[in-house]
Amino acid sequence: MSVDFANPQRTAFDLTGKVVVIVGGGQMPGDKIGNGRATALVAARHGAEVIAVDLNMAAAQETVDMVLAEGGTAYAVHADVAEREDCEHIFDVVMQRSGRVDGMVYSVAINPPFDRERNEMSLENFNKGIDVNMLGCFYCNSFAAQCMEKNEGSSTGSIVNFSSIASLKNEVGLNIGIMPYALGKCGLNYITELTAAQYAEVGVRANTLMLGPIDSTLGNHDSQDLFGMAADEVDAAYNEVLRLKMGRASSWETAYAALYLLADESRFMTGQQIRFDGGATLVR
Ligand SMILES: NC(=O)c1ccc[n+]([C@@H]2O[C@H](COP(=O)([O-])OP(=O)(O)OC[C@H]3O[C@@H](n4cnc5c(N)ncnc54)[C@H](O)[C@@H]3O)[C@@H](O)[C@H]2O)c1
Repeated sequence: MSVDFANPQRTAFDLTGKVVVIVGGGQMPGDKIGNGRATALVAARHGAEVIAVDLNMAAAQETVDMVLAEGGTAYAVHADVAEREDCEHIFDVVMQRSGRVDGMVYSVAINPPFDRERNEMSLENFNKGIDVNMLGCFYCNSFAAQCMEKNEGSSTGSIVNFSSIASLKNEVGLNIGIMPYALGKCGLNYITELTAAQYAEVGVRANTLMLGPIDSTLGNHDSQDLFGMAADEVDAAYNEVLRLKMGRASSWETAYAALYLLADESRFMTGQQIRFDGGATLVR
C-alpha cells in the first residue's frame, strides 16, 4: 500500500483494506471491556477487517457480533495460543479467507492459580503461564511476520504486543503468583525487539505497549487473586502499591494507542517498548 502523508485530504489512522488479527480478541466475561475487544472495535471503526482469535470462542464471537452490529467486517477463529499448531492455524485460516495480514495484536495473558498462603505454584501451572504469556507471543509474532513480509509497499505490517509494567516494576515482592506473568512479559518485550530487528528490512514493524493497570474485568479479577483482596479494594490497593499518578485507564485508551501503532502514521516506529501507564513508572 502506498502512503501519501502530504495529501491534505488524507484521513488519519485509516485502516481501510488492512486485515488485523487480534489474538485475545474475546475477553473475560464481565462488564468492563478488555484490551483485545476494545482494539478490535476501534480497528474496525477505522476500516480494518478484524479477526478475533480466542480460546473462548463464545467471547470471540461476541466481539465479532459487536463489530458487525456497527457495520464493520469481522470473523472469529478459535485457538489455544499455548499450542504452536493452533498459532500456525490462525494465520493459515486468515491467509485463506482474507488473503493477507497487515496487523497482529497479541492481547492474551493468564495468571495461573497458586497457593497464596504457602507461596507455591505447581510446575505445570507455572509452565502453562509461560506458554500462554510468552511462547504463544513468539509463535504469533513469527507466523504473522511471515505473512506480512509478503505484502507490498512501504508499510507492510505492524505487530503490537501488549506487555505490562509488571515486566519493569514488581511491587508484589517474591510472590510466585506474579512470576509467570511478569517473566512472560519480560520475554514478550524481548520477542518484540527480535521481531523488529529481524523484519525491519522488509517493512514489518513490532512494538510493545507496556500497559499499566487497566480497568478491565480480567485486570480486576487477577489483582484480587494476587493480592487476596475483595473487588472493591482493588483501586485503593493499586494507588497504594503502585503509587499511580493518573489512576487507571480503560481499555479504550489502550485501543487508541494500538490504533496509532497499527496505522501507517507510525511506520518509522519499530522495536519500541512504550510505557502506557499514566506515569506510574516515573520516579519523580
Ligand atoms: N488489565 C490490565 O490491567 C492489564 C495490564 C497490563 C497488561 N494487560 C494485558 O492486556 C492483555 C489483555 O488483557 P485484559 O485485561 O484486557 O483481559 P481480557 O479479558 O482481554 O483477557 C485476555 C483474553 O485472552 C484469552 N485467552 C486466555 N488464554 C488463552 C489461550 N491459551 N489462548 C487464546 N486466548 C486465551 C481470554 O479468553 C481473554 O479473552 C493481556 O496481554 C494483559 O497482560 C492488561
